[in-house]
Amino acid sequence: MHLDDRPFHVLESSQFDRPFLDYICLLTDTIRRFDKSKEGLMYLRGLLAHKRAMLYFTQPSTRTFLSFQSACHILGMPTSEIRDSSTSSERKGESIEDSLQTFSSYVDIIIMRTQVPGLCNQIANHLDNTDRPVPIINAGSGPDEHPTQALLDIYTLNRSFIRRGGIPGKTITLVGDLKRGRTVRSLSLLLANYEDIKIRFVSPKEYRIEDDLRLQLTKKGVQFEETSDFIGALDGTDAVYMTRVQDEYDANNESAAINIDNYSLKYEDLCHLKKEAVIMHPLPRRTELDTRIDKDPRAKYWRQERNGMWTRVALLTMILGVHRNIVLPDL
Ligand code: CP
Repeated sequence: MHLDDRPFHVLESSQFDRPFLDYICLLTDTIRRFDKSKEGLMYLRGLLAHKRAMLYFTQPSTRTFLSFQSACHILGMPTSEIRDSSTSSERKGESIEDSLQTFSSYVDIIIMRTQVPGLCNQIANHLDNTDRPVPIINAGSGPDEHPTQALLDIYTLNRSFIRRGGIPGKTITLVGDLKRGRTVRSLSLLLANYEDIKIRFVSPKEYRIEDDLRLQLTKKGVQFEETSDFIGALDGTDAVYMTRVQDEYDANNESAAINIDNYSLKYEDLCHLKKEAVIMHPLPRRTELDTRIDKDPRAKYWRQERNGMWTRVALLTMILGVHRNIVLPDL
């Protein structure tokens, strides 16, 4: 990747290619080394002390919000936030475009999480036509995309398979509410960048992936299968990625009628997984991931969560153009 090839907006995972993914993984690894000394952390803190960030999170979030906020602070960037649109002038009838344009008057980057699919793209288009376009990062937009979660998932997979040839050739099993799970869509599209990847989608029929994802993966030549046999799908799997039911998108509590028990990873199921397999979950979890698994060495979800902060530090340095100040090791 040429160092000038950096993203402006981050809206969907299909905007990233393999050279970008390899670069951000290496950049994240390098940045993490700065965490080991006071001097290293002080250096990072000076990189973006001249910039300001806005966190506009009007849909609930714990780890994406806190990891982005922490990433901004690691880089010395002050943050402001709105976590409830009822506390902004949207309550007085201001349009979402005017609200976000207002934020752009005060900050250099806007990180947004919203219930509304496509809203981040809409706002990015709007700001591009103003005299102060600032980058928009999609930190989760309804059921459609969560591209920065997918980046940290790729980073976690990459690290987990470092001594096993990396991500190419691996079998990744994605389980749960695949219809409305934005992490699944974003991750699947990033996995499409790796040679000979095999994806298994496991869900009850009500939660199967949407046609648009099926079509995109087919066009990219990705090998994938869809099944409702969860235990069968664990056989030969290199990474199992569990997800919860996204019932916040229910129209009439329809999720209550769908039995998810057969799509839950229980401690007793670990015998069906390879010894070196990886267990992931974007979190938060409910009953689909047994807490007794937490101490199993294959459980990577707490590490995955922390990786999110460092991957987001790396992404912010790229968007705001200070990544060249991080010297990568010669390979
Ligand atoms: N993985 C994730 O997006 O978690 P939060 O909803 O807590 O941000």
